[in-house]
Amino acid sequence: FSGWPKCCSLHPVALLPLTLILAFFGYCFLSPGSQRLENLLPGARAPLLLQSCDFHANSFTAFYSFRMMYPQPKVLTLCRSDVLVLTPWLAPIVWEGTFNIDILNAQFQLQNATIGLTVFAIKKYVVFLKLFLETAEKYFMVGHKVNYYVFTDRPADVPPVPLQEGRQVVVLQVRNYTRWQDVSMHRMEMISSFSRQRFLREVDYLVCADVDMKFSDHVGVEILSSLFGTLHPGFYAADRQAFTYERRPLSQAYIPRDEGDFYYAGGFFGGSVLEVHRLTKACHQAMMVDQANHIEAVWHDESHLNKYLLYHKPTKVLSPEYVWDERMLRRPPFLRKLRYVAVPKNHQAIRN
Ligand SMILES: *[C@@H]1O[C@H](CO)[C@@H](O)[C@H](O)[C@H]1NC(C)=O
Ligand SMILES: *[C@@H]1O[C@H](CO)[C@@H](O)[C@H](O)[C@H]1NC(C)=O
Repeated sequence: FSGWPKCCSLHPVALLPLTLILAFFGYCFLSPGSQRLENLLPGARAPLLLQSCDFHANSFTAFYSFRMMYPQPKVLTLCRSDVLVLTPWLAPIVWEGTFNIDILNAQFQLQNATIGLTVFAIKKYVVFLKLFLETAEKYFMVGHKVNYYVFTDRPADVPPVPLQEGRQVVVLQVRNYTRWQDVSMHRMEMISSFSRQRFLREVDYLVCADVDMKFSDHVGVEILSSLFGTLHPGFYAADRQAFTYERRPLSQAYIPRDEGDFYYAGGFFGGSVLEVHRLTKACHQAMMVDQANHIEAVWHDESHLNKYLLYHKPTKVLSPEYVWDERMLRRPPFLRKLRYVAVPKNHQAIRN
């Protein structure tokens, strides 16, 4: 009471009844069984109030033994005002400026996550592996554990690339197909089959990427989520009617013209191993049904990926920063980074 004004000071003898009265009211107000607080303050959350009176500072410091300094997120300040950063189903759309990589890295280090990166180097496509792996070492999930799963029919041609600690190349020998369309489509089957056999045991997340690309800027844990797809660089601004979805109802990849959120790129998707297993298995099965019906979707596995992601909404969507082609497209001003870009190639020579 020493801080109180003089007029309020009390004789010590008066303190005992006062203490009892305060204790009584304190009990009524704060007891978990008491209805009184709710009656006084409609909607008040008594348990929360109790928790705040009840904490043990010592046990908190034991659990949370580190501090991180970073700018406070501001509720009334937009991180980006030029692009959509959230889908209508509340999945973040990942653009430069929407995330703080230090916070995300700390969260994924706590999870001790290992990331699998699948890539297919079939036939002459092995020539792309060196640049793909070298640039991945420079930009992809730096500081985290990474398993590169290289699917190839030519294991002897996988180039040796120096790797950072905690990272390894795992060569998985698979068969080749004559048609490039079949090579592309059977990726779904192989990812699905190896997910069940070993990826579930070995990694937490899978990222499925095209090999005829290179990393040219940071690609980190900001992309990771249960299920993610990437906005195709050719269609991010297009109306759904203009998307190159499969439009023939006979195909399992069929999407009517009045449906569709985005057109996703076939060359960069992923998620938890469980979700990628579900996706790749579903796409493979749909392609087998198409094959039995003698129909092949217009953009092969990409058409089936788009059908799947329309009905199983991704929990994160990557902006075209994460798949770009500088020769085909002019870079718009809102694209602040180009992180994963097409490598020039002579298509016909490679495919033959
Ligand atoms: C992190 O995971 C690795 C295996 O990827 C394991 O050897 C290591 O013990 C784990 N560390 C912690 C702190 O859980
Ligand atoms: C396809 O793979 C087989 C071995 O599985 C190999 O003998 C053949 O040369 C490959 N075809 C091409 C075009 O690389």
